[in-house]
Amino acid sequence: MKPRKAILVILAASFAAALPLAAYASGRGEGKDPGIPSSCQDCHASTSPRFAVAGAHARYELSGHKTIGDSAYANGEGCQKCHTNEGFVAFTKKGEPDPKEFVADPSQPGCFTCHMPHETGDFSLRTVSPVTLANGKTFDVGNGNLCATCHRATADASKTVAPMPANRVAPYWGSHHGPQADLVMGTNAYEFPGRKYGSSSHKDIINDGCISCHMSLPKGRAGLSLEIGGHSFMIAGRVHGADTLNLSACVSCHRDMKQVPGTTVFGIIAQEDYDHDGRKEPVQLEVQGLLDRFVNKAGTGLLQKLTPPFYNADGSFNFVRSDAVRPLGEVAAFYNYRMIMDDRSMGIHNTKYIIQILYDTIQSLDPTFDVSLRPQ
Ligand code: HEC
Ligand code: HEC
Ligand code: HEC
Ligand code: HEC
Ligand code: HEC
Ligand code: HEC
Repeated sequence: MKPRKAILVILAASFAAALPLAAYASGRGEGKDPGIPSSCQDCHASTSPRFAVAGAHARYELSGHKTIGDSAYANGEGCQKCHTNEGFVAFTKKGEPDPKEFVADPSQPGCFTCHMPHETGDFSLRTVSPVTLANGKTFDVGNGNLCATCHRATADASKTVAPMPANRVAPYWGSHHGPQADLVMGTNAYEFPGRKYGSSSHKDIINDGCISCHMSLPKGRAGLSLEIGGHSFMIAGRVHGADTLNLSACVSCHRDMKQVPGTTVFGIIAQEDYDHDGRKEPVQLEVQGLLDRFVNKAGTGLLQKLTPPFYNADGSFNFVRSDAVRPLGEVAAFYNYRMIMDDRSMGIHNTKYIIQILYDTIQSLDPTFDVSLRPQ
């Protein structure tokens, strides 16, 4: 008996007690792989198991969940509920972690974070409960709720943004790196008093939200590459050495959408020339044009021109020792800029809300900015 099979057989005895009887009643010596209990073969059979475990694994190996690797240090102070497999599992069972708690040898979000195959006998998701965002609004978009449990802002912008000493605003201050759920819903950026905000309908019409767009794969034999779709969780990656977008989800609604040749830009032209450069470009380029007004390579961005600036002329963050108080408008601008940058969809998650927020933020620092094209 090969060592791997021997381990499975030995472990089968201990697992069997915890597993649902219906799924695990059958014994050893049956099915495709007589050497291991048939109850395990749905996933662990050496040939054609019922579930494509090895395939999911191959893509997962290349995903940020596996490779970015922050579990080792984001293993306490509440960070673990999103950053470690162990922390997330505990969070779904017990709620908010004790900030002093941590586990030895934490691991990255992995198979058992999102699934509980040894308890359920399948790949149903560990949680798909609606998610309460930091500002109290609810995110409820099908199975995408799983993703939103972790990919949400950790701050309530309306309470966090306030006049504050310059030395308290560090580059990691703000909504945190994964505010996607909030932006998909169209909420929780710093919203300027007296302005009305709307939302793209993506949140209402894409059944499983995040999952529909990020894990979709083209139908048929040619499945892009392991870097894209499925358990890579990525929409962009390399195929035969070329930057490639996975349009398979988008084209079910945007039938003519193409990748802009030679770029990783989705070919969907914006309704207006939002960045005032004289051309109606694809949405992501209009959003880039607006972000360039905050920070740009020429060093002329609004956040590079304040006293003291948030960013240096070369684009690096300007750490300030001064405790002189920054006014609300400056803090709000930094917060919103960081949030849209951290979202990283360049407007795709919610074109309407993201452009409204960028418009109001630019105008608050530059009253001459023409807002007549602000989406209504
Ligand atoms: C519904 C699918 C499924 C079934 C059924 C299943 N497993 Fe697993 N098992 C998994 C997955 C997924 C992994 C993680 C695999 C990976 O990382 O590639 C795993 C991993 C393991 C491991 C490696 C330990 C670890 O933590 O990675 C052992 C041992 C194991 N399973 C034993 C069993 C035994 C024994 C049975 C039958 C009683 C069984 N499994 C049934 C899905 C399943
Ligand atoms: C509500 C869930 C959540 C909490 C709490 C949280 N994070 Fe994160 N964090 C994320 C997500 C999701 C990402 C990935 C975002 C992305 O790639 O778009 C991330 C990304 C990061 C990154 C950047 C990773 C990279 O290089 O791309 C760092 C560093 C980080 N977190 C540290 C921390 C620390 C330290 C804490 C605790 C003080 C913490 N996080 C708390 C969800 C969370
Ligand atoms: C971040 C969450 C996440 C992680 C980590 C994850 N999965 Fe999944 N997995 C999902 C989601 C979401 C789906 C459903 C995809 C869909 O709706 O098409 C899924 C679906 C699957 C399926 C298809 C189930 C079916 O009924 O056909 C398999 C098999 C699977 N996962 C295996 C794995 C394995 C093996 C690992 C570890 C290598 C893993 N998953 C890690 C979220 C995750
Ligand atoms: C347990 C919390 C958790 C869940 C659930 C989760 N993620 Fe993540 N995700 C993270 C963290 C944390 C990171 C960054 C990893 C790190 O910092 O080590 C990340 C990274 C990513 C990345 C890579 C970003 C990059 O910078 O390359 C993508 C894409 C992603 N997640 C999409 C998803 C999608 C889609 C889902 C739902 C199927 C999902 N995530 C579910 C916590 C989670
Ligand atoms: C309409 C389809 C769609 C939906 C719905 C969607 N995304 Fe995205 N997402 C995108 C696109 C397109 C990008 C940009 C990808 C690129 O250019 O690399 C992106 C970028 C990202 C990134 C950054 C990845 C990177 O390459 O750095 C993360 C993380 C992410 N989305 C997570 C989520 C989460 C979590 C949800 C649900 C709350 C979600 N997305 C919903 C389409 C979608
Ligand atoms: C279930 C259908 C559906 C899917 C899937 C879908 N979209 Fe959309 N999308 C729409 C509809 C309808 C609108 C117009 C209404 C709106 O923005 O509220 C829209 C609007 C947009 C806009 C804003 C256009 C503008 O100028 O306001 C962008 C950008 C976009 N989609 C990109 C994408 C990308 C990229 C994908 C795939 C990753 C995708 N969509 C997947 C239905 C969908």
